Amino acid sequence: MRVAVISSECEPWAKTGGLADVVDALARSLGRIAGGPERPVDVFLPRYRGVALPETAPTRRLRVPDPRAADGTTEVALHDVPADGYRIRLVDHPAAFDRDGFYGDVAGDYPDNPWRFGLFCRAVLEALRTDERPTDLLSLHDWEACPAAVLRDVAYADEPRIGRIAVTLTVHNFAYHGWMPRDRLAQFLFPSERARAGPAAADGLDLLRAGIERAELVNTVSRGHAREVLTAEFGMGLDELLRGRGDRFLGIRNGLDMAVWNPAADAALAAPYSAADPAGKATCRRGLLGELGLDADDPGPVLAMIGRLDPQKGFDLLAGAAGRLLDAGARLIVLGSGDAGLVADLRELAGSRPTELVLLERFDRALARRIYAGADLFLMPSRFEPCGQGQMIALRYGTPPVVRRTGGLGDTVVDADEHPANGTGFVFDDATPGALLVACSRAIQRFRSEPPGWAALVERGMSLDWAWEAGPAPEYARVFERAAALRRAG
Ligand code: GLC
Repeated sequence: MRVAVISSECEPWAKTGGLADVVDALARSLGRIAGGPERPVDVFLPRYRGVALPETAPTRRLRVPDPRAADGTTEVALHDVPADGYRIRLVDHPAAFDRDGFYGDVAGDYPDNPWRFGLFCRAVLEALRTDERPTDLLSLHDWEACPAAVLRDVAYADEPRIGRIAVTLTVHNFAYHGWMPRDRLAQFLFPSERARAGPAAADGLDLLRAGIERAELVNTVSRGHAREVLTAEFGMGLDELLRGRGDRFLGIRNGLDMAVWNPAADAALAAPYSAADPAGKATCRRGLLGELGLDADDPGPVLAMIGRLDPQKGFDLLAGAAGRLLDAGARLIVLGSGDAGLVADLRELAGSRPTELVLLERFDRALARRIYAGADLFLMPSRFEPCGQGQMIALRYGTPPVVRRTGGLGDTVVDADEHPANGTGFVFDDATPGALLVACSRAIQRFRSEPPGWAALVERGMSLDWAWEAGPAPEYARVFERAAALRRAG
C-alpha cells in the first residue's frame, strides 16, 4: 500500500505544536513497517517562508485548478526532498505560503485560508494524479488537510486514480474547525463543485466536519479523548456526528520517537543519563538552573511547564497557583510561545520574584530539552488534551508529570498515590488552580520526603516504552488497510 500523508506541519520543517512531531514520527515508522524503496511514505507540506531546499531537490511544475485565477489555473512547484525515513513533498506557491505565519498573523487567521489550504490540497491531488505510481491512501491531519477529502468527492470523483483513493482523517485538535463562511467558499470551490458539495455547503463549510463525514475512517490521538469527544462537553459541536460514525471513529494513542527523545543521546543536554544510569540528570539540573540564573544549590523542587500559550493548555491555572507554589518553596520555569496575553499574570509574578520564576516567552527546541531533563516535576494542567506529548517526554527524561485527568494525559500517567506500586506521576481532576495546587503539593511532599521512593517512581516512568513501532504505527497500518477495503467495497 502506498500512503500519502497531508499535513500543515511536520518537524523539522514547520512546527507550532505536537502535530509536527507526530506527523514526522508516524511517517518514519510507517515507512519502517509498511514502506520500503518501492513504496516510500510521502508527506505533503506547504513550503512556508524560510523552508530551505537542498540544491538537488527535483522540482515539478504543476498546473493546478484555482478558483481565484483569471483563467482558472495556477502554477505550483512541487519539490521532493528525502527526509529521515520518508519523503517530504513541499508544495510551493509563494503567494499562499511565503508569509510571516503558517495560519495567520497578529490580526488573526488569514482571511484567504480557504484558498491557501484548498490550493495546497488541490496541488497534492494533481501530483498524485500524474505521479508515476498510484497512491492508495491519503492520511489527512486536522482541518488544513480536509479540503483533500472534499475535493476527492466533488472534483476528482471521475478521475480513476484519485476517485478510488481511500481517506483517513486523524484529528489532533477538535477546537480548530477551519470554518469557511459562505462568502469565502468561492475561494475554494468552483461553482460546479459547490453545487456538488451538497446542502452542507449552503451556509459555508466546516472543513473538519466535512472531513469527518467523507473520510472512510476517522481517529483521534488517544482512546480517552475518543471517548470524551462523543460528549457535548468535549465534542466542539461534532459529538453527534462522531457518535453517528460508530466504529468508523476510533482512538489511537500517539507514540513517541524513542530515538529523537532519548536522554542518553541528547546533544542538547549537559550530561547523558538513562534509567540504568541516572546520575547525569543532576548535572542537567545544575546546568539548567545556572543557565537560567537560578540558584543551582537550592534543593527545592523545580517545576516546569512547556507549551503553546493557548487556553487549552491551562496556563491560567498555573498562573492562579503559581504564587502559592513559590511560597511553598518551589521554583517555576515556563517556556512557551503563542498568545502572550494568556501569561500576563505569570509575567507580573516573574517580574516581582525573578529568582523563583523564569518565564521564557519563545519557542526554543534545545532549551525545551534541557528543561525536560533538568526539572524535578513537569506540569500539564490542560483543559483538554487529545494526546499530549510533553508528559511522555517528561516520563522518558525522568521528570514525573503532574497532569489533569483528560484525554491522553489520563491514558498515559498513573497517579502515584492512587497506585503506589506502579504510579508514574500525579493526576488531578478539576480544572482549577486549587486542584493543580493540591496535586503539586502531593508531588512536592513525596519529592522531599522519600528519596528511595522518588527514585523508584522516576525509574518506572523512564522505563516505559512509547515506541511507535510497538503499537501505534501497526495500528495505523491496520486502519489504512481497513479504509482501503471500505473504499473498494464502495
Ligand atoms: C495537538 C493536541 C495534542 C496532541 C498533538 C499531536 O497539538 O492538542 O494533545 O498531542 O496534537 O497529536
